[in-house]
Amino acid sequence: MSYHLDVTTDQATYPILIGAGQWSDLADTVQACFKPTKVVLAADHTVAELYGAAVRLALESIGCPVSLLVCPPGESSKSTDVATDWWQALSAMAVDRHAVLVALGGGVVGDLAGFVAATYLRGLPLVQVPTTLLAQVDSSVGGKVAVNLPAGKNLVGCFWQPKLVWIDPAVLLTLSSREFSAGMAEVIKYAVLRDDGLMERLETSSDEVLSRDPDTLGPLVHRCCQIKADVVHQDPRETNGVRATLNFGHTVGHAIEKLTGYDTVLHGEAVSMGMVAEARLAERIGWTEAGLADRLERVARLYDLPTELPQFSWEQWQSAMLRDKKNIADRIAFALPRRLGCVELTADVPIEAIHSIVRC
Ligand code: NAD
Ligand code: GLY
Repeated sequence: MSYHLDVTTDQATYPILIGAGQWSDLADTVQACFKPTKVVLAADHTVAELYGAAVRLALESIGCPVSLLVCPPGESSKSTDVATDWWQALSAMAVDRHAVLVALGGGVVGDLAGFVAATYLRGLPLVQVPTTLLAQVDSSVGGKVAVNLPAGKNLVGCFWQPKLVWIDPAVLLTLSSREFSAGMAEVIKYAVLRDDGLMERLETSSDEVLSRDPDTLGPLVHRCCQIKADVVHQDPRETNGVRATLNFGHTVGHAIEKLTGYDTVLHGEAVSMGMVAEARLAERIGWTEAGLADRLERVARLYDLPTELPQFSWEQWQSAMLRDKKNIADRIAFALPRRLGCVELTADVPIEAIHSIVRC
C-alpha cells in the first residue's frame, strides 16, 4: 500500500510519498520534479554504507550527476564544524541553485543537511529521504532544520521546508532495535496528541509493530505524518501554540538529553521518560484525570522504552528546563495533555509541582 499526503504551509505545498516504490522510482521522481544540474546526496557513514550506492546508482542511471556529503553517525555531527565542511564541499563541487540536496538518513542528517540546504547560496531545494522511524514520523516533515551549539541542541537553525519527503518503511528493517524503539516514542506522542484509536492499536498490536513488517508500518507512519502535516499546516513557524504541542514530553526530555550530555540517552528515549513525567505533572495539577501516566508507562514498556527519570539534583533539572525554547521569561513551559487526544501549551505550572515530579 502506498500513500500520498500534501503538506501545505504559508509558503509552499509539498508531497510526502510513503511506500511509493524502489530507489529507481525516487530517482524518476527527483528527475521529473527538478531536472537538477546535480544531486548532492547527504548521509552518515552507516546509511551511506547501507543505501548510498543503490541510491546513487539509481540517480546516475537516469542521467543525474551525483556527489556525496558524508559525516560520522551520531548527534555530534549536527555541528557548525560539519556544516562548515559541507558548505566548503558544496563550493568545491561548484554546486548551483539548480542542484538538489537529498538528505538520506535519520534526524541528524535531516536536520544538518536541511540547515546546509537552507543556507548555502541562500537556499537549495531539499528532498528528505528519512531512514529512521523517528525521522519518518517526525523530523523529515515540517522544515525545522538546525545544528547544535555546545550550550544546547538546535540553537542555530531555521525553517526550510523540503520540496519532497520520500518514505520507504522497508529501510526500517536494518535499524537497530534500540533506534526503532526510540522512534516509537514519537509515535506514542502522536497518539496522545490526536488519536486515542492509535493508542489502542499500539497497546494491542505491539508484536506486529515490532516485527517491522512494512505493510504494518506503512499505515502507522502515514497516520503520524497526517497528524504532523495538519499541525504544521496550522502553525508552520510555531507561533500560535499549535505546533508547540508536538513538544509533549520534550521539556523534561530535552533536559534529560542536556544533563546526560547527548550521547548516552537517545532523543526518543528521553521523550519517553519525559512523556510519563509530564503526564504525571498534568495529573498533579488537575489538568488530566489520574491514569494517563500509568497507561503511558505501560505502552512505553511494550516498546522497550525507558520510563523512569534519571537522578539529578533539583538545581540541575531547573537550570536545564529553564533553557527550553518554549519558556516565557523565567516560567518553564510544558505541552501537557488535557486528556488522551488533546494536548495544550502552558507556562503556568507551579514550580512546586514541577519539583515534585523530578525530585529523586
Ligand atoms: P540519527 O539520525 O542519529 O539516526 C540514528 C542511528 O541510526 C544513526 O547511527 C544512523 O546511522 C542509524 N541509521 C539511520 N537509518 C538507518 C537504517 N535504515 N538502518 C540502520 N541504521 C540506520 O537519529 P534519529 O533518532 O533519526 O534523529 C535524532 C535527531 O533528530 C536529533 O538530533 C533530534 O534533535 C532531531 N529531531 C528533529 C526534529 C525536527 O522536527 N527537525 C524532530 C525530532 C527529532
Ligand atoms: N518535532 C517538533 C516540530 O517539528 O515542531
